[in-house]
Amino acid sequence: MYSTKELLEKVNQALEANNISKQPEGLYQPITYVLSLGGKRIRPVMTLMAYNLYKDDVTPALLPAIGLETYHNFTLLHDDLMDRADVRRGKPTVHKKWNDNTAILSGDNMLIMAMQRISQCDAAHLPAVVALFTKTAIEIDEGQQYDMDFENRDDVTENEYLEMIRLKTSVLLACALKMGAILADAPESDAEALYEFGEKIGLAFQLQDDYLDVYGDFETFGKQIGGDIMCNKKTYMLINAQLMAQGEQSDELRYWIAKENADRDQKVKAVTRIYTELGIPELAQQRINEYFSEAMNCLDKVQLPQERKEMLHELAMKLLKRKS
Ligand code: IPE
Ligand code: IPE
Ligand code: MG
Ligand code: MG
Ligand code: MG
Repeated sequence: MYSTKELLEKVNQALEANNISKQPEGLYQPITYVLSLGGKRIRPVMTLMAYNLYKDDVTPALLPAIGLETYHNFTLLHDDLMDRADVRRGKPTVHKKWNDNTAILSGDNMLIMAMQRISQCDAAHLPAVVALFTKTAIEIDEGQQYDMDFENRDDVTENEYLEMIRLKTSVLLACALKMGAILADAPESDAEALYEFGEKIGLAFQLQDDYLDVYGDFETFGKQIGGDIMCNKKTYMLINAQLMAQGEQSDELRYWIAKENADRDQKVKAVTRIYTELGIPELAQQRINEYFSEAMNCLDKVQLPQERKEMLHELAMKLLKRKS
């Protein structure tokens, strides 16, 4: 079995080898830019890791794996435009460095590139792989729409939030794992258990992302802190703060959410202070740990010896403690 580091190297090599520097530059430069800025590459690594549980040579899973990473990076281009985010991976986002239209069109191209790469799996698995990917991509759009709709609502429940993050984030991690399993001809029950493992890890992962958006370090996280607060994103943090805040705190929170053109520093500071006073960070961490344990229960259902699943366990642990 390959180590996580070895799998990451394979992913980066494959991305490099498949880098296209075609014309027009205005379309392809932003694609090369975003794909060369790194990122954790967890989705393709997960695909290869799942594949490697059943097959030694991971080569047949490489193109679908980098297809998923290409797709993920497409979602980031459009997401940053939608979230008005100026920095990603410590660098200006595509719509900032170029412009909105570039982010739209280069993003569209990446979505099709992703499909092209994914569909270069072996013919026998093509229908199942395409069905899984297209279902996932449609769900992600649904999740992103809920995420946007929720910005303008003040009655979003925790369950609605959880379903929104399952759609926008979890299903891609789940799909990455299941795709590896499908390509490796894993038993269907294993492929399903890996999918569920990915879903739970994804919930913990997005909760952690929301947490880091408030309490992370800009340099390490690579994204501007307070972006979610500025967009009134209905994160786990905000939903619980709205439920728990009383009296003056509640008034203050409502004031900042309603305020148009608020000063960034002031709003982020004030809302963060309210979260901290209410013990929201601890609450979020608790939830993250709960989803992590649920994920481990799903991993237990994969019919393989414990030591074979150790790498997935370790990867999940690393994500749980991530700061970036
Ligand atoms: C960012 O994903 C989008 C979310 C689902 C939170 P990652 O945190 O995996 O981003 P990169 O690829 O490592 O930059
Ligand atoms: C991530 O949501 C979901 C997708 C990109 C599909 P976020 O909006 O929280 O992701 P970041 O924080 O910008 O990476
Ligand atoms: Mg965003
Ligand atoms: Mg977003
Ligand atoms: Mg985020």
